[in-house]
Amino acid sequence: MERSFAPSLLAIALLFAAILSGRAHEHHGDSSCEMDPNVRVLAEYRQGVVTVDGHVDDWDGVDGSEFELRPALDPDEDKKYQGGKLTVKAIHDGSNIYFALQVDGEYAYTKGESKQCPSVALMFQIGENASYDSMGGCADLPGSCTSQSCQGHGVDIMHFSMGTAIPGRLYGGNIIDNTAGNGGDRFGHLVDIYAWNPHCRYLDGIGPDVNYTNALNDWHGAWWHSSLMLHSGYIEENSPYATQGQKGTYYFEFSRPLRTMDRFQQDAQFTIGQVSKLAVAFWYPTGGQPWSKSQHYSGSCNWIPLDVALPSQASLSHSNNSSWDAATAFSLLLSVVAFCISVFIGYWVSKRKEVPFMPIEMTSVR
Ligand SMILES: *[C@@H]1O[C@H](CO)[C@@H](O)[C@H](O)[C@H]1NC(C)=O
Ligand SMILES: *[C@@H]1O[C@H](CO)[C@@H](O)[C@H](O)[C@H]1NC(C)=O
Ligand SMILES: *[C@@H]1O[C@H](CO)[C@@H](O)[C@H](O)[C@H]1NC(C)=O
Repeated sequence: MERSFAPSLLAIALLFAAILSGRAHEHHGDSSCEMDPNVRVLAEYRQGVVTVDGHVDDWDGVDGSEFELRPALDPDEDKKYQGGKLTVKAIHDGSNIYFALQVDGEYAYTKGESKQCPSVALMFQIGENASYDSMGGCADLPGSCTSQSCQGHGVDIMHFSMGTAIPGRLYGGNIIDNTAGNGGDRFGHLVDIYAWNPHCRYLDGIGPDVNYTNALNDWHGAWWHSSLMLHSGYIEENSPYATQGQKGTYYFEFSRPLRTMDRFQQDAQFTIGQVSKLAVAFWYPTGGQPWSKSQHYSGSCNWIPLDVALPSQASLSHSNNSSWDAATAFSLLLSVVAFCISVFIGYWVSKRKEVPFMPIEMTSVR
């Protein structure tokens, strides 16, 4: 009686856990320049669900947060990006963190001209005093900022400027630039940067006072647009890959280890169960006009909290459950095998009863 109850109780408990975790993940936010305190990006724990290839169908089960894109330097409502909101999704798998960015926009791609292609950047707080405004907000002028004078103002930036990047291909950290010991990417311009303010901005490993030769570009990423048709893989000769001006959606996918080997405060470090600070930027060649570096849209006008979540109770009880099931099935199988063996041995021993015991030395080959 009690045994038959147990599965339905378990099912009800799981359902509740699923509803609760579902609630907790309803965090689609609107961002005005009085930032809604509920706006955040949740990086749930999910293992083995996304492939970093620019295709975001594998993110379908992950809830995202939406951000209105306004000019970063003049966050005026009527100057916002006309294409629509930017959706940001994040997950982590215990060792890497993954981001998916999605924004509607007509297809724009000019080979070799990054400023005539869309571009995205992620910025994270490193130093506890690094402000969202002015990329860390160190007051030092260019030429005088140093790691000492700007201590506590470091921000970590990933910038993907895709003029030479083939859609669907992976860019970022590569053996040549990582051997050179900096955060560059000579192939796709998906670079790993740090800054103390907009004028004191450097590739990881390169600095105003000293160049370290052991920094890395820890990011990887890819881009895609919904008007691209060839799924088997593009090569450079296919450029511009699709017809300019086609309506559709841009997709960007990125990954990075939660922790990096940086020792110079040039990378943000993520900790499972803790909150980091994030900002998102987007450049678009409106009307075919190239964008300038400072001419970008931002998803917020302050840091956005990024929760690097612990595995949820629902996913724990699920994995506990399935491992219990597997263990039970396996032990059942083992006991059946053991039973069969013991029956066989009993039969074999009884058949060989008449054979007398002989010391092993005495058995001889006939
Ligand atoms: C941040 O600013 C506070 C107050 O000015 C200061 O006490 C603290 O040392 C600073 N932190 C760093 C890492 O520089
Ligand atoms: C560091 O490297 C950059 C770029 O390669 C160079 O311009 C700069 O002079 C170097 N600085 C030092 C201090 O060696
Ligand atoms: C099973 O669940 C318990 C607590 O509910 C947790 O401590 C444990 O790590 C889980 N085991 C696995 C394999 O997920």
